[in-house]
Amino acid sequence: MIDPFGRFVSYLRVSVTDRCDLRCVYCMAEDMSFLPKADVLSLEELERLCTAFVRKGVRRIRLTGGEPLVRRNIMSLINGLGQLVHDGALDELTLTTNGTQLGKYAEGLAKAGIRRLNVSLDSLDPAKFAAATRWGRLDQVLDGIMAAKHAGLAIKINTVALKGLNDGEYDHLVEWCGTHGFDLCLIETMPMGEIHADRMEQYVPLSDIRADLHRRWTLSESDYRTGGPARYMDVAETGQRIGFITPMTHNFCETCNRVRVTCTGTLFMCLGQDDAVDLRTPLRCSEADQTLDRAIDAAIARKPKGHDFIIDRDSRPAVSRHMSVTGG
Ligand code: GTP
Ligand code: 5AD
Ligand code: SF4
Repeated sequence: MIDPFGRFVSYLRVSVTDRCDLRCVYCMAEDMSFLPKADVLSLEELERLCTAFVRKGVRRIRLTGGEPLVRRNIMSLINGLGQLVHDGALDELTLTTNGTQLGKYAEGLAKAGIRRLNVSLDSLDPAKFAAATRWGRLDQVLDGIMAAKHAGLAIKINTVALKGLNDGEYDHLVEWCGTHGFDLCLIETMPMGEIHADRMEQYVPLSDIRADLHRRWTLSESDYRTGGPARYMDVAETGQRIGFITPMTHNFCETCNRVRVTCTGTLFMCLGQDDAVDLRTPLRCSEADQTLDRAIDAAIARKPKGHDFIIDRDSRPAVSRHMSVTGG
């Protein structure tokens, strides 16, 4: 699949549920209303949708949420998609998770063919972690991360840079990730959905943090790439990497390779735009794949050049839906 700007679309992000057992302050409002179950595709329908994208050339799939591991019977989808990796139809199946359920699922994920996981972790301080997630228990997430490590999964820790919350912690995060053999990815907060908080109060440009990190660590440009938007630096002292995801200060849309589908079968061609295409109707109207394939082609032809994110004190979020609708 090639979009109007000549970019190959080979990466599909699939939000399997909009629900989450946490409420990170930059992601959701406290009083979220979630989709009625009747609107949500079955796991079999999601698998058929994924298979359609694979048929059209997608080589990587990342499952997201909300929190993907709170969806009931999620392992049936993961095992089904894992088979595509096993058969060589997919290069990679991965997951972005908040880690709370990893104690239960880590072994199964590894057995299904998942090789690496991205885990959100905004603070190593229990009180700050609880503040960032509104009620999360740090020990539960750390236990989950360690279970994943023991299951042989490579781990990248995702940390959204948040003023007044985790500033001052980045050196500790680099050190902790180094000790455990994890990569660390720092992320600029993106203005999506009404969260009842001032984004300007939260936002930190990563250029500031990077300059601070340079003072303490020996950092050099890395040629490591995952197909995602992060640009990595090698940390000489730890042997691990730090990734920087900078949608606000350093646009990376030119190399975009992805689209995202929600649990209702809505396809968003860009994270930072509201335009979307309904794939649930073509999925359900026919057992034949032709109608669905045509709808996907028409959607890719509408993929925009880039996001509309801006953060300023007065503006409403450029994108009205919450991050949890597409899982990033
Ligand atoms: P890998 O590179 O495969 O490890 O994953 P990733 O970093 O693409 O995925 P992850 O789910 O860990 O997302 C990390 C952050 O990157 C989240 O804040 C996402 O919202 C953000 N992100 C992922 N893809 C895009 C994108 O296409 N555009 C923008 N603006 N942000 C993205
Ligand atoms: N801006 C940037 N990243 C976000 N995430 C959730 N909400 C936002 C936001 N508003 C991150 C989570 C998770 C990943 C999927 O997206 O921390 O790691
Ligand atoms: Fe692609 Fe949109 Fe992300 Fe930019 S913001 S990299 S165009 S999905």
